[in-house]
Amino acid sequence: MSQKKRVCIVGASGKLGRYMVQHALDRGYEVVGVCREGSIGKLDPFMGRILIFPGATNDREVIERAVDGCDAVLTVLFPWGHHHYSTGTAQAVLDFAPPSARLIFSCGWHITRDGQDVYTLWPKTQEQVVRWVGHLTHAVDIDDQVEACRRIFASDTQWTVVRGSDLEEGASEGLPVWSRHVGDPVLHSNKTRRVDFALFMVAAIENDALIQEAPAIVGCRTPSALAWRDQHAAPAAPVSAASR
Ligand SMILES: NC(=O)c1ccc[n+]([C@@H]2O[C@H](COP(=O)([O-])OP(=O)(O)OC[C@H]3O[C@@H](n4cnc5c(N)ncnc54)[C@H](OP(=O)(O)O)[C@@H]3O)[C@@H](O)[C@H]2O)c1
Repeated sequence: MSQKKRVCIVGASGKLGRYMVQHALDRGYEVVGVCREGSIGKLDPFMGRILIFPGATNDREVIERAVDGCDAVLTVLFPWGHHHYSTGTAQAVLDFAPPSARLIFSCGWHITRDGQDVYTLWPKTQEQVVRWVGHLTHAVDIDDQVEACRRIFASDTQWTVVRGSDLEEGASEGLPVWSRHVGDPVLHSNKTRRVDFALFMVAAIENDALIQEAPAIVGCRTPSALAWRDQHAAPAAPVSAASR
């Protein structure tokens, strides 16, 4: 009988992280989580079913121990503070995860891999506001997430960077659809349920077509996704509208 896959979730106690823990357990994976010590209580519903490594996600020693022997590492990249938190987190995962491991990272549409994304005014304005407020308050550093992703894109690991649209809560609608470039018509609705963002992250573990891709995702029941589906023959899941 094949051994259970061991999956590490870095940032397990956050909203996205907890959904990923649930999806990973549902798929029968052995789950290891990294979260700040003060947030362990948020993982109480999973107590006894997951192994927790307390610590900051950019603590290299914690990450080294947590990812040891893992088949996949799912990392929530969040640009907290002005001390390279995202970059430190990503670099630790890149450095210590086993070379054969699938590495899946989360971020937003603002990250671009090849500069071919086309943004409307509103997301760009939102990004500028976050950048500006982040600099004033020292709470968030978007450029840190940009640098973290630059390092991931440059690595020869089996990475996937999942770029989330605006998020909303609500029951799962199914696996989001994706495309290579923001601006592609399938993505126009710019909305994904957070539970389905997590579903996409976990499903990517088994989807080799996503290796070294930076899919931008959108909910599969959104108007733009449904319109795209109606215009094309239904391919096998997971649906991809990747522009090639
Ligand atoms: N929110 C959106 O609209 C949106 C849109 C597109 C993409 N995304 C992407 O989705 C992912 C998850 O975002 P989310 O908004 O849903 O948040 P989330 O899942 O709640 O994740 C926030 C994470 O940051 C940690 N955190 C909070 N405050 C911190 C601090 N001061 N120092 C260090 N870590 C801290 C949290 O850990 P604790 O549990 O310890 O607090 C948690 O792991 C991110 O990669 C984000 O870029 C979000």
